[in-house]
Amino acid sequence: MKKIAVLTSGGDAPGMNAALRAVVRVGIYNGFEMYGVKRGYQGLIEGDIEQMDVASVGDIIHRGGTKLRTARSEEFRTEKGVKKALDVLHMFNIDALVVIGGDGSFRGAKELSKSGFPTVGIPATIDNDLAYTDYTIGFDTAINTVISAISKVRDTSTSHERASIIEVMGRNCGEIALYSGLAGGAESIIIPELETSVDDVCRKLIQGRNRGKLHNIILLAEGVGKPYEWAEKIKEKTDVEVRVSVIGYLQRGGNPTAFDRVLASRMGAHAISLLMENKSGRVLGVEGRKIIDLDIDEALSMKKFIDMDLVKIADELSI
Ligand code: F6P
Repeated sequence: MKKIAVLTSGGDAPGMNAALRAVVRVGIYNGFEMYGVKRGYQGLIEGDIEQMDVASVGDIIHRGGTKLRTARSEEFRTEKGVKKALDVLHMFNIDALVVIGGDGSFRGAKELSKSGFPTVGIPATIDNDLAYTDYTIGFDTAINTVISAISKVRDTSTSHERASIIEVMGRNCGEIALYSGLAGGAESIIIPELETSVDDVCRKLIQGRNRGKLHNIILLAEGVGKPYEWAEKIKEKTDVEVRVSVIGYLQRGGNPTAFDRVLASRMGAHAISLLMENKSGRVLGVEGRKIIDLDIDEALSMKKFIDMDLVKIADELSI
C-alpha cells in the first residue's frame, strides 16, 4: 500500500479539518503518498483529487468547516456512481480511502468496501447519532455553541419575562438538544426519542413562574419539528409570550473545542494504523477514553438509544 486518499462528506462538522490534518500528516510520517478528494463522493466521481503535503494541512487544526469542502452526492447513491468512483480510484492508483463523515458517508464507504476497495471511516457529525461510539467529532463544539446561544437568549427572555423555544439540529436524534439543554439549564427538552406534550411544557413553565422565575427555556430538537406551532400552543395555554430562535448553521461552524481536536487527531492517527495493518471496512469510535474500531456493517446496524439517566437528571434539575 502506497497511496492513501481522504475525503470529507455530508454535513460539515467542526474538527473535520483536525481529522484531515492528522490523516495526512500521520500518513506522510509513515511513508505514504497522501491525496485529498475535494467535495466528498461527488468530487471522487469527478476525479477532483490532488496530492497533499505536510504544508497543505497547515493552519487548519483550529478552523471549522472542511478544507476539502463537502457535498451530499446523489450520483454516488447509484450503482453507476459507485462504479465511476471505483474507476477513478484505480485510475489514480489509490490503494485505500479514509472517509470523514456521518452515517450517510459511512454507507458510501460500505459500498466501496463491499466492492473490495480498502476503506476506513472516521465519524464526524455534530448530530452524535451513531450508536457504536460515545462521541462523534463536532458534537462537543456544537453543544458548546448552543449553550452560549442559550445564555444570550436567556438574558433577553428574563428582561422581557418571556419563554423561548430554541430549535437545535440533530436530524432525528435528540443528543444535541439533550446535552445542551442539560448544560444550559433548560426548563424543558423536547426530543424525537421521547413523547412530550404541550401540557408537560406548560406545567414546567407555570411551576417556574410560581416561584418567581422570569425566563423559560425550551430546547426543541429539529426532529420534533414545528417550533412556531409549539410557541402558539404554549402561549394559548399559559398566556406567556413565547419567542422562537432557530440556531441553524451557527452550530455547524466555528472553531473546534480542544475535545474535538484531540478526538480528531487520535482518530486520524488510528485510521492510518489500521491501514498499515491491512485492516479495512472498519469505522472508528471512542468508548470511554479508548479509540475503538469495528466492522462497518456491524456499526451501521446498531440502534442509538438516548441516555435515560441524562433525561432524568435534566428533568429533576428543572423543577
Ligand atoms: O447532519 C448534520 C446536519 O446539520 C443535521 O443536524 C441537519 O438535519 C442536516 O445536517 C442539515 O443538512 P444541510 O446540510 O442540508 O443543511
